Amino acid sequence: MSNETEEISQVLSQACCTHTLIRGVFSAPRTTGSSVLRVVVKPVVIRDQWQLQFTSETPTQQIHKNLPPDDALAEMLRLVAMEFRNLHLSLPGNEYTVQHSRKGKCFLKKRNMVAPDASLTAVSGQDHNRTKKHIIPDGVTCPFLIRTGLMSESGRVHASQYRKFRQINRYLEFVQDILHALPTDRELTIVDFGCGKSYLTFATHYLLSEIYHREVRIFGLDRRRDVVEHCNRIATDLHLQGLQFDVGDIRDFPMAEQVETDRVDLVISLHACDTATDDALYRAMEWNSKVVMAVPCCQHELNQSLGRSALAPLTAYGATKERFASLATDTMRAMLMTAMGYQTQVLEFIETEHTPKNLLLRGVRDVSMKPSVIEAAWRQVRELRATLGVEPLALERQLELNNKS
Ligand SMILES: C[S@@+](CC[C@H](N)C(=O)[O-])C[C@H]1O[C@@H](n2cnc3c(N)ncnc32)[C@H](O)[C@@H]1O
Repeated sequence: MSNETEEISQVLSQACCTHTLIRGVFSAPRTTGSSVLRVVVKPVVIRDQWQLQFTSETPTQQIHKNLPPDDALAEMLRLVAMEFRNLHLSLPGNEYTVQHSRKGKCFLKKRNMVAPDASLTAVSGQDHNRTKKHIIPDGVTCPFLIRTGLMSESGRVHASQYRKFRQINRYLEFVQDILHALPTDRELTIVDFGCGKSYLTFATHYLLSEIYHREVRIFGLDRRRDVVEHCNRIATDLHLQGLQFDVGDIRDFPMAEQVETDRVDLVISLHACDTATDDALYRAMEWNSKVVMAVPCCQHELNQSLGRSALAPLTAYGATKERFASLATDTMRAMLMTAMGYQTQVLEFIETEHTPKNLLLRGVRDVSMKPSVIEAAWRQVRELRATLGVEPLALERQLELNNKS
C-alpha cells in the first residue's frame, strides 16, 4: 500500500469512527461507460443513529442507500480502490482530494479549510483563482455546473467560464456569512430575482441543501421564458428538491401564490439589469425578508438627472459621470436599506479586474434598530439628493409610498 493510500484509509477510518465526515464525492468512474457517474456521501441521522447516505448518480436517476459507520467505511474504501479515480472529502478543518492517474498512481492533496474571515481576503489573478479554495471546488464534478455549461464532464471549470465560476463562489461566501441570521428550525424560503441562467440559484441550492443539509424552497424569477424553461428542465433532471423557476417581471411577482411572502428568509440578485435591482430590493424589504443581498448591474436612473448641482464638474465627462452615478445610486440604496431597518454593508464583491460591477449590498433585518438610526438614514438620503440636485430614486418613492400605506 502506498503512503497516500494508507493515509486516505486512515482519514476515512477516522471520519467514520468519530462521525466527522461532512461530505465525500467520488467521481471519474474507472470503467468507461459506467452508468454511475458519481457517488455523493453525506451524514444522516436515522432513529438517532449516525449513518452515511450514499447517493449514486446516473444520467437519469439517483439511488440512495444508508449504511452504518463500519459498512460505510468498507464501502468507501471499495469505491476509492475499485470504482472511481477521484475522491473529494470534506472534514472539519480539512479538505482532501484523492486522484488516481490512469497508470494507477495515487495523488493525495490536503488543504486546510479557509476560515470564514480569511475567505474574504481578496485574491487576484487567474493562477490564484485556480488554486484558491472555493466552496464549490474546481476539479470535482458537479452536475449543475456541468449542465449550466461552466464545467466539463471531467470536473474542470472551462477557462472561458472561470469568471462566472468565481463570482458565484464568492457570492456563496457572502451567503455563508449570514447563515446565522436565518432560522434554523424550519425550511428556508429564498428568492433569486433576475436569475437568468441561474448559476447563482443552483449554487445557493447546492450550498444550503448539499453542504448545510437544510430544507429549502428556492424560487428563481426571470422575464425570459427560454432561460426559465431550461433551468426548470435542469432542476427536474437533477432531482433538485425545492427548486423552481418562473417567468415574469419582478414588479408583478407572479409567484405570489406559491411563496409565503411573510416568511421569506433571503432575497438575492446578481447583476439584475438597471432598476431591476431596485425592484428586487423593494420586494425584499416590502416582505421584511430577513436578509437581502444584491450585486447591482448597470444603472441609468441617476445618470440621466445628474449635472445640475455644484458637483456638476464631477459629472462633466462621460466615464466619471457613469461611475459617480453608480456610486451615488448604490450609496442611496444602502441608506434606504438602513432606513427600512436593515443593518447594511456595502462590500467589495469581486476584484475590479474581473468585473467593474463589483459592489455587493447586504442587509440583515434588525428589528431592534433604534428609531434615531432609521430617521438619520432617511435624512441622509434626502440631504444627499439635495446636494446632487436629483429627484428621489424610484426605490425611495416606492418605499415612501409603502411606509405611508
Ligand atoms: C445580466 S443577467 C444576470 C443573470 C443572473 N443573475 C446571473 O448573474 O447570471 C440579468 C437578468 O435579469 C433579468 N431581468 C431584468 N429585469 C428584470 C425584471 N424586471 N424582472 C425579471 N427579470 C428581469 C434579465 O432577463 C436577465 O436574465
